[in-house]
Amino acid sequence: MTTTAPAPIVAGHPLLGSMIDLLNDPLAAYLRARRDHGDVVRFRAGPPGLRSDVYAVFSAEGAQQVLATRAANFRKDNVFYEELRQSVGNGLLTSQDDAYLRQRRLVQPLFTRRRVNGYAQQVAEEAVALAAGWREVPGGTVELVGEMHRFALHVVGRILFGTDVGKAFEVIERTLPPLQEYSLKRGFSPIKAPRTWPTPANRRATRLQAELYALCDGIIDNRRDRHDRDDLVTLLVHAENAEDGSLDADELREQVLIFLLAGHETTATALAFALHLLARHPEEQRRVRDEVDRVLGGPGGRAPTAEDMEALPYLTMVLKEAMRLYPSAPVIGRRSVADAEVDGVRIPAGADLLVSPWVTQRHPGYWPDPDRFDPTRFTPEAEAGRPRYAWFPFGGGPRACIGQHLSMLESVLGLAVLLREFEFEDAEAGEVPVGAGITLMAKGPARARIAPRG
Ligand code: HEM
Repeated sequence: MTTTAPAPIVAGHPLLGSMIDLLNDPLAAYLRARRDHGDVVRFRAGPPGLRSDVYAVFSAEGAQQVLATRAANFRKDNVFYEELRQSVGNGLLTSQDDAYLRQRRLVQPLFTRRRVNGYAQQVAEEAVALAAGWREVPGGTVELVGEMHRFALHVVGRILFGTDVGKAFEVIERTLPPLQEYSLKRGFSPIKAPRTWPTPANRRATRLQAELYALCDGIIDNRRDRHDRDDLVTLLVHAENAEDGSLDADELREQVLIFLLAGHETTATALAFALHLLARHPEEQRRVRDEVDRVLGGPGGRAPTAEDMEALPYLTMVLKEAMRLYPSAPVIGRRSVADAEVDGVRIPAGADLLVSPWVTQRHPGYWPDPDRFDPTRFTPEAEAGRPRYAWFPFGGGPRACIGQHLSMLESVLGLAVLLREFEFEDAEAGEVPVGAGITLMAKGPARARIAPRG
């Protein structure tokens, strides 16, 4: 259909193409590929005969076409989504077509701004509890990534399960990380045993999955005859409309698992890197703390509410800048249905492709001095001057993140409490290196010294 140019092939090893680079450090390989070959490129990976191609789209215009304007042609049919489906089922993140539309219609009303604002109290309580725990930390040093993981898991757990969350944490913390690791490993390996074969890895994954499923099913069953609770599982169990009826038992479990999976690591990464960056930039930390103190009062002040969000614009800018430099979903994958054109380049039918917040959000065409931490990039005027998809940590188009407002609420209110109660000083030698997992992963600890205020 097109008369457009073919994508330039990224130069790699004569025999293996880009395979080693993509396995060792894909995020660095993507940045280099954009710099050396342009905004739409083609990676070839693997020895002849087993070679696979992946197209990568780095411009804001290209990302917009893939995710939004031409979304119907770019589906979630790639290996990573397939592996996720096998691990956590066909919930809102992974499903497609009619099954997806039905789920989204049933779930969307639970994520309106008003509903989500109703979770502010749980967020504030968890943040205050975390701060109280930190006051007891010997030596006053915390590892931000681990701490923020626990915080975000507690928040999403409480929102989903309400007061039943205590027992759930133990199971989730033991089963979810190894299941994610297993899916990721399978997604990256060109040759793998079918999941049904009784290899040790498959058997362990099956056992962990069964345990996690049983936990969710138990909590869901417990909510069937209950109308006196307002946790998200109860709302999901009772969600219905004339056209779609209600979610069945499998669909309910799938949504719960997807919210656990999509809703905790992502927000934890944003929070951890926001604090890591502030610990490394004392001037910015002072500025943002002044704002927090004005709104909430100093240390020991009142708990934040959803209404405070608007009064904390600089903190929101800091968070957006942290998510620019450290997007929790560094790449978003798709597969093309038919021959298409993206940003003037030909993408054949059946091609695997990815767009990358990691690269586009460091693209010097949109972000002068892209590696510098500078929250003023997110003043309303500066935002209005950039293409819509120069910053897209939450994806975009019809499959954009349903948890965006929840995550922003959780991060802004959580950070407000922590910054009000502590001063942060970096305890690492430099910026923490990162790599790509299912989400962006710190490759080492991100320690900070915390000094209680007041
Ligand atoms: C910093 C925090 C977060 C980031 C960066 C993030 C990022 C994303 C991205 C990039 C997508 C699109 C994936 C694609 O197009 O292939 C997505 C979808 C999704 N996210 Fe998030 N997310 C975050 C927080 C959350 C939270 C807190 C929840 C729920 C509690 C959540 C639930 C979902 C769901 C259900 C989808 C699928 C939506 C659909 O296809 O209709 N996310 N997220």
